[in-house]
Amino acid sequence: MRMVDLIAKKRDGETLAIKEIDDFVRAYTEDRIPDYQASAFAMAVYFQGMNEQESAALTKAMAASGDQLDLSRIAGIKVDKHSTGGVGDKTTFILSPIVAAAGVPVAKLSGRGLGHTGGTIDKLEAFPGFETELDEDTFMNLVNKYKIAIAGQSGNLTPADKKLYALRDVTATVNAMPLIASSIMSKKIAAGSDAIVLDVKVGSGAFMTDLPAAKELAQTMVNIGNELDRRTVAVISDMDQPLGSMVGNALEVKEAIDVLQGNGPEDIRRLSVRLAAHMLVLGGKAEGVEAGEALANDLIQDGRALSLFRDFIVNQGADPSLVDHPERLVKANNIVTVQATASGYVSSIDATDIGRAASMLGAGRMTKEDSIDHAVGVEMKAKVGDWVEKGDALVALHANRDDVSEVISVVKDSYQISDHALEERPLIFHEMI
Ligand code: URA
Repeated sequence: MRMVDLIAKKRDGETLAIKEIDDFVRAYTEDRIPDYQASAFAMAVYFQGMNEQESAALTKAMAASGDQLDLSRIAGIKVDKHSTGGVGDKTTFILSPIVAAAGVPVAKLSGRGLGHTGGTIDKLEAFPGFETELDEDTFMNLVNKYKIAIAGQSGNLTPADKKLYALRDVTATVNAMPLIASSIMSKKIAAGSDAIVLDVKVGSGAFMTDLPAAKELAQTMVNIGNELDRRTVAVISDMDQPLGSMVGNALEVKEAIDVLQGNGPEDIRRLSVRLAAHMLVLGGKAEGVEAGEALANDLIQDGRALSLFRDFIVNQGADPSLVDHPERLVKANNIVTVQATASGYVSSIDATDIGRAASMLGAGRMTKEDSIDHAVGVEMKAKVGDWVEKGDALVALHANRDDVSEVISVVKDSYQISDHALEERPLIFHEMI
């Protein structure tokens, strides 16, 4: 079929055949379709949507557009977790050693951060010497022996998605539900796991700011995963304020270790345990989510998850003593407190702004070429629902420079203080199993 006919078919609300979607993805990846036609196609999908079969076909075709990881050399049910992105989200460092300690293999490919959210690989590099470029044999052997390896994405994974995403970014078509869902799921499918737990964030720091949209995205991704024979579940969790207390690379790693030591903030601990529980169920290690939570909590309490995290750090070339002495991780030299300008209850914190503040300090990148400072970031001293007196600390900025006045005003603007207490917002809104 000619591309112009395919665009017209979608424009008129018809259903595309799998072969038509396959042909489009292949031809676009091979530069045989110009960007102007691909953008018209994306806009048609934006307005007309796609049904379950079309979304699954698009996902499958994009996953097949480049390298696909074959994890069959790794024994057991491989379960991956994906978060749609949030501020202060360090659940990967907590749930991965938990499920690995239970025997569920974690063979994870992760990315770097761009903009206001940090990337897993950047955070791991807060451990000096941590090696994220692993060749395939090393990666597979580590997972088989220790049940865990996390590597940076290399090679040619989902080139169709890379090309289409860049195009969507400049044609106002990013926010098309089937395109978001197939973009995310194509990368997960190409990464080779048997089952997937999705953490779909909702709130001021998330891609989806309202619950109906988050539910629609979650449902679309769950349907795609199941359609492509990967058992997929989704948890919709709050991102209306940063998760935990720490935002910034080494700060987040320290907080994750704190949780693995049985301490740490309640929200990050609870969400990590819940996501781990779903992974344990999918990995065949727990009968149900409650049993999975009990197992995850046991693995924290008896130190097995922390011990596995230590192995993981050593295996990938870093110093394990940092796991027992996280205070030795790189630190910023200037701690600046931002104080409340009025007394009252913290009624909201714009999570994106806190992420932006951390980036302005150097924790994130504005462009792909920027380097980052692992030491800096934002420590939340007051969270939503807390009562603060005028002059109390809202956050502590961990900075490596003296002039942080711009960052202070971003943080101040991100906090709303109110006279009355708000109803508590749930941490987990919904689960799709
Ligand atoms: N994240 C992705 O990977 N793809 C999208 O389309 C949106 C967010």
